[in-house]
Amino acid sequence: MSDGRLIVVSNRLPKGDVPSGGLVFAVHEMLSQTGGLWIGAADPTKTAEDGLTQIGKGVYDRATFALSEDEHRHYYLGYSNSMLWPLFHHRADLLSFDQDDFDGYARVNARVARAIAEVAAPGDTIWIQDYHFLMVAKYLRELGVRNRIGLFLHIPCPNVSDLMALPQGADLPGWLAAHDLVGLQTQRDVSAVSDLLRLDRAIERLPNGGWIRKGHRFAVLSFPIGIDAQGFADTAASAPELPLRMPRDAPLILGVDRLDYSKGLVQRFDGFDTYLARRDAGGPRPTFLQIAPGSREDVAAYQEIRDQLERRAGAINGAHADLDWTPLRYVRRNIDRAILAGLYRRADVALVTPLADGMNLVAKEFVAAQDDEDPGVLILSHFAGAAEQLRAALLVNPFDTSALAEAIDRAIHMPLAERLERHAALRPMVFDQDITWWRDNFLRHLRGHAGFDRAMA
Ligand code: UDP
Ligand code: G6P
Repeated sequence: MSDGRLIVVSNRLPKGDVPSGGLVFAVHEMLSQTGGLWIGAADPTKTAEDGLTQIGKGVYDRATFALSEDEHRHYYLGYSNSMLWPLFHHRADLLSFDQDDFDGYARVNARVARAIAEVAAPGDTIWIQDYHFLMVAKYLRELGVRNRIGLFLHIPCPNVSDLMALPQGADLPGWLAAHDLVGLQTQRDVSAVSDLLRLDRAIERLPNGGWIRKGHRFAVLSFPIGIDAQGFADTAASAPELPLRMPRDAPLILGVDRLDYSKGLVQRFDGFDTYLARRDAGGPRPTFLQIAPGSREDVAAYQEIRDQLERRAGAINGAHADLDWTPLRYVRRNIDRAILAGLYRRADVALVTPLADGMNLVAKEFVAAQDDEDPGVLILSHFAGAAEQLRAALLVNPFDTSALAEAIDRAIHMPLAERLERHAALRPMVFDQDITWWRDNFLRHLRGHAGFDRAMA
């Protein structure tokens, strides 16, 4: 079978200084190597029509599908980000369900499927990204599309009881089964999805570990996403001078996150507060720099977390700052990647403490950016997908404020020998299992996995 062209669809395309999140950087790095077509959402307009608009040609081509303002509200702000995102991040308390949101989501998924069906040639591989398009493969199959279709979910997977809060929960297994391959970040996610698939009586497990529904075979496997580690390391090593005003020998603790309630920022601030309250007055005076560009600000839960953090940041500095020391710096601007890479390299400690996260690329970028002879310390939450690979980080439970404070203290004082040992164990996980490894691994399975070849079905 010819490999044909790679057609990737994701809601977001790279755009100016809008904070993009991990998916956009990963897909850009991947398509820069393979070429292909990247389809994403256009800015919302008054009305929306079928079809694609080509917006760029180059190593890879880019095209947009149209979205009306109404659809943007229901499909993106509503069903995707007020229903699926909280549910998949185990925050059923934040759900807000509206039937119009689901209808808008289904309508946009159907339009995207029609647009793909128009441009896909028989040998092309279709690779759908993330939770915005869970129904696209189902619609493509209804349109008679027989191409290989893969889905990669960048976010964590819900368990059976989370899913019960979704009115369409019983349909989800059928949507997933329309793909040839469903890729997930971790083994934990594969177990969760295996439990979900068992809810659909039409789905059966095959002896080779695959699945079958109404004669269609599919696979569910984990492919932890990586970064362009060497490229990032090179950027970090040659980063421009940092516009940071702080003493050269003071420890820098760094956090970099989209401002999202899943990132555990309030708990992280609490941990730093406790660390400050306990620290020895004559000891080092660290600066904790938290970069958190705003995200999805039209969704109420995001406005709330933003207000909450602002209050916490003010209170922490109020309690601990001095004439010549501001312990916490909170920056809500999106920071350019070259500066970011330099900050990672300058940082002594990275705080990556989400309450739930598909992978968390910041953890991997921090490891890649380190000076191998004098590496910083990664404090990583058990709940980041990255924790399955990065076992040599200082692993923490972000809900345990006291343990978080202790980990900060331990990281600041960690001797060079222990830092070198941990870094030596982390480095290969990031450099060997990089973005190319992820892409090749996924596409090899999708295009011709011996156990799941359609010819065998
Ligand atoms: N990022 C950035 N500038 C910022 C903040 C974040 O370029 O000011 C990038 C960061 O380097 C990483 C991505 O945004 O590549 C965040 O990805 P991650 O997987 O950590 O989280 P997500 O936002 O996808 O949930
Ligand atoms: C996460 C999601 C992506 C999303 C990104 C930024 O990485 O997995 O699908 O693109 O966050 O969020 P936004 O809603 O701004 O696209």
